[in-house]
Amino acid sequence: MERKIVTTSTIKELKAKGQPLTMLTAYDYAMAKNIDEAGVDMILVGDSLGNVMLGYSSTVPVTMEEMLHHTKAVVRGTQYALVVGDMPFMSYQTSEQLGLENAGRLLKEGGCQAIKLEGGSEICPLVEKMVQAGIPVMGHIGLTPQSVNQFGGFKVQGKELVAAQKLVADAKALEAAGAFCIVIECVPEALTAKITELLTIPTIGIGAGKYCSGQVLVCNDLLGMSKGFTPKFVKKYRFLQAEIVGAVSEYITDVRQGNFPSGEHTFTIDEEVLEKIY
Ligand code: KIV
Repeated sequence: MERKIVTTSTIKELKAKGQPLTMLTAYDYAMAKNIDEAGVDMILVGDSLGNVMLGYSSTVPVTMEEMLHHTKAVVRGTQYALVVGDMPFMSYQTSEQLGLENAGRLLKEGGCQAIKLEGGSEICPLVEKMVQAGIPVMGHIGLTPQSVNQFGGFKVQGKELVAAQKLVADAKALEAAGAFCIVIECVPEALTAKITELLTIPTIGIGAGKYCSGQVLVCNDLLGMSKGFTPKFVKKYRFLQAEIVGAVSEYITDVRQGNFPSGEHTFTIDEEVLEKIY
């Protein structure tokens, strides 16, 4: 079947058809190319690149310049999926003007087709202005990692009545402001199900159960690219960390034992030429 380029209209159509949406993060050209080839609907250049690619302990230090650098690489590797660029901490919180300018930079310089930003009703006036300016916006509610210092850690959100009511109100406000989609992170499944039922736009869950319109995972988590703590909501489809360490160990042994490079990896020169050199 011929593959089509995914746009925000495609996302709407897939939701209307009841086809679950798929999104994965990517941060570089090579990974974007592979994920795109596999057929994912959307690629998120998440600010999780702070943790995954840059080794920060949270997403807080990530800058606009870092987001732009990685977004450009992902866009170069993507042919079909809709690429969403993440707005980093403090790129939109201080003024609407700054937020609009930075969202514009992600589209104009980064080359992505939509942006994502964290927050509920408090950011809706900004979301409205972005949408009016022609920028497709993906919302993000629940456990919003840029606010980790306020939450006091990475905890499930919306378990108490007031917090659950706020999440419902935030989701409705984002839809009314013109967001085309909302990521819901670390929220109890039954609450996400209610929110999804109440909205016409799709919800994309991460740690939010199966009743969303779609799912997102960090690609390095899905591939098992590192050892150590794994959040409950992550399913590791492969354990590439062990594969990588194994392959590199074999290379080290081969070089030390003189087994690499062998004839098949080596260039030759005519003996005659060689003899005439000196
Ligand atoms: O930055 C990110 O990767 C995200 C996803 C986890 C939704 O925001």
